Amino acid sequence: MVDVTALGEVLIDFTPAGRSEGGIPLFAQNPGGAPANVLAALSRLGRRTAFIGKVGNDAFGTFLRKTLSETGIDTTGLGTARKAATTLAFVHLDESGERTFDFIRNPGADTLLSKQDIPDELVMECRIFHFGSLSLTHEPAASATIQAVSAAREAGALISFDPNLRLPLWETAEHAKAMIATGCTYANIVKISEEELEFLTGTTDLIRGTKQLLDTYGTDLILVTLAEKGCFIRRGESRLTVPGFVVDTIDTTGAGDAFLGSFLYRLLERDIEVSRLSEQELIAIGRFANAAGALATTRKGAIPSMPSLTEIGVLLPDMKASEYVEKYRPQYHFSPPSNWMNDPNGMVYYEGEYHLFYQHHPQSTIWGPMHWGHAVSTDLIHWQHLPVALAPDHNGMIFSGSAVVDAHDSSGFFDGGSGLVAIFTHHDTVQASETAADAGAGTTSRTRQRQSLAYSTDKGRTWTMYAGNPVLSDESIVDFRDPKVFWHAESSRWVMVLAAGDHVRFYTSPNLREWTFASEFGKTEGSHDGVWECPDLFELPVDGHPHERKWVLLVSIGDSPDCPEGSRTQYFVGDFNGESFSSDLADDEVIWMDEGRDNYAGVTWSDVPAEDGRRLLIGWMSNWKYANFTPTTSWRSAMTVPRVLTLKRTDEGIRLYQQPVQELSALREAPLGWSALAIGPDRPQTIDWEGKAFELEAEFELAGAAEFGLKLRKSGSEETVVGYDAALEKLFIDRTASGESAFSPAFAVRHDAALKPDGGRIKLHIFVDWSSVEVFAGGGRAVMSDLIFPDDASQGVELYAVEGQVKLISMKIYPLASIYSRQAVSAGQS
Ligand code: FRU
Repeated sequence: MVDVTALGEVLIDFTPAGRSEGGIPLFAQNPGGAPANVLAALSRLGRRTAFIGKVGNDAFGTFLRKTLSETGIDTTGLGTARKAATTLAFVHLDESGERTFDFIRNPGADTLLSKQDIPDELVMECRIFHFGSLSLTHEPAASATIQAVSAAREAGALISFDPNLRLPLWETAEHAKAMIATGCTYANIVKISEEELEFLTGTTDLIRGTKQLLDTYGTDLILVTLAEKGCFIRRGESRLTVPGFVVDTIDTTGAGDAFLGSFLYRLLERDIEVSRLSEQELIAIGRFANAAGALATTRKGAIPSMPSLTEIGVLLPDMKASEYVEKYRPQYHFSPPSNWMNDPNGMVYYEGEYHLFYQHHPQSTIWGPMHWGHAVSTDLIHWQHLPVALAPDHNGMIFSGSAVVDAHDSSGFFDGGSGLVAIFTHHDTVQASETAADAGAGTTSRTRQRQSLAYSTDKGRTWTMYAGNPVLSDESIVDFRDPKVFWHAESSRWVMVLAAGDHVRFYTSPNLREWTFASEFGKTEGSHDGVWECPDLFELPVDGHPHERKWVLLVSIGDSPDCPEGSRTQYFVGDFNGESFSSDLADDEVIWMDEGRDNYAGVTWSDVPAEDGRRLLIGWMSNWKYANFTPTTSWRSAMTVPRVLTLKRTDEGIRLYQQPVQELSALREAPLGWSALAIGPDRPQTIDWEGKAFELEAEFELAGAAEFGLKLRKSGSEETVVGYDAALEKLFIDRTASGESAFSPAFAVRHDAALKPDGGRIKLHIFVDWSSVEVFAGGGRAVMSDLIFPDDASQGVELYAVEGQVKLISMKIYPLASIYSRQAVSAGQS
């Protein structure tokens, strides 16, 4: 069963997009149409939605169909008209963002929807059925609409109606009034603007006008939107005015639909009849919907501008964190406010702020045209989301890369001062040149990856693309990307490490703009299970000795169908002389940075002050095997907790150790402690505490058990096991019964990491969040980071042992506070 089915128009809103060089007005192609927008709002909030309507057999129709399905809307009810074109609306915005419309609809495909086009199940099996008046202007859509609405009502759906008056589309105003009146007779909920109230009732007086509608149609709930003033709600004799929010409005398109979609979302959550909601509840729902409407005006377009639950919640500080945060949304890990995220990019510390940019598709929860999303933090834990920093331009999409502080203006971008320079990959597609090999084979295209610069003079708030982009290209190499740049003090120049398919390359530059090839590494070293990506290179002391130093080269390797582990990150320890890297490892020796499944493309922060001195890493907590399919709603993916990297000498050689940053301890709530417990096969120990976001430290003494450990996020049917196999000396995570896993056959697995006991003891430091577990074992020697998708109710913790005993020396659990209870998200997020 779907939650909400909507019937009506889906169309292109062409919104003003500046002028061409010749001064000709330009329009941007935005997907829109009020009923589709309402569904987009609901879908962004995680509700199941279905659309019924018609598009033309043209590129606009294809684009709309794709947009709806990428937004998570079921399009089985979206037909294609053979004779008519997709309806187009040209929106003209005045200075305050108010709109007038020109419609190209003569006829538009949406008006050709007929009774036969409508799938029964979408009408008969939905909790709410929503429609507007644009499908009532012409036949056959008008009769089809009325028939569907009346069938849905009879089947028990709540009917929502938005007259959405567009007078130029009607033959006469009288016809419009009559058809809207018909719509009102079916509706439980009617949403109108002040102008529509006046059109229907002849008065602008909210109390009298809504009373007249109530008396005429017996509507359960009338919602009048009042722009930034908020909304007016009438239910019977209750009349409630709910204040709105002041935000930086740039485009009001879709605001009313965001309002209504969010209102319906909260009604679905309450799951009781409208008549049984208290006035307090109605006001709370109105506030929520006002916040959503306001946020939608801070971005261009309609469907792409629908806000997520987290964004709405941030405007509503009086709501409890748990009320506005989506299922699975990590409570203390970084996640994008909405839509898709992959690699961390451009991490740099500058003037008191840690910057985190990230691979981002701002319009979809699946990978697509890459932008750099952006957030800043002063403590690595609480992040302020900022507008998208870099967007695709004529050189292509913005793939991964790094950022540095150009302290002495080596680039010449900063007028002798300092500023930030981002070095990233521009990715585009070009016609293949006619080489001997493909001559005569027809036109083919190929992708191209080149390195480019952008710079910021205002602490990363705005960015300018360097006019001389790209600054480094080699079109003979297909995968040529993810530049990580640092200042090499010994040789007084910049060094870039770049992934080049099956190896990395080093380049040097005096000024960030001109790069010289220095050397390459890796064609015969390490793992080649997948393409090499996202390298990083840095120097660290060994065992903290300032004079004994080694270089670490991180290389992420992409997913391959033959490799069940999917994408993961290997590293090399060795030396770098400013020109070339040599590894201390044997050629066929492979060491992984994290032996979990979900820590990829991690790189380290540039320019962390010397007095801090830490090498700080954050990784993308997902895996290309299934990243696009994880069961989250309005956003997709999170980062790992930030970690401190160190080098230690071990029996196997010099190895990387990872520790969670100590800043995380600020989230700790009052700890609970246990000690000296004997755990045996017949004596598992269920802990008298439950939670979904916590930190756990446990120390075990081996006492004969073949296997022991912890079952986390446990319920009758679910558990995530963090265990130790004493015979094999292996730490493991078993997420086969951790929760949702049907989205990928590669997800429900048990996997392990070598870990020797230390003095007969095993120490585990574990971070659990709403959809992840990260284990730091043996002081950070073995690390496993895994996504899990447990039910909300799976919150138990159990200690267990198999075949023999284990002794729990001590265990501490710190519940961790949500970062959303304190965070501020800028309403200007684009
Ligand atoms: C790694 C990666 C990078 C690329 C980016 C594109 O996850 O494939 O190599 O720059 O993602 O989003």
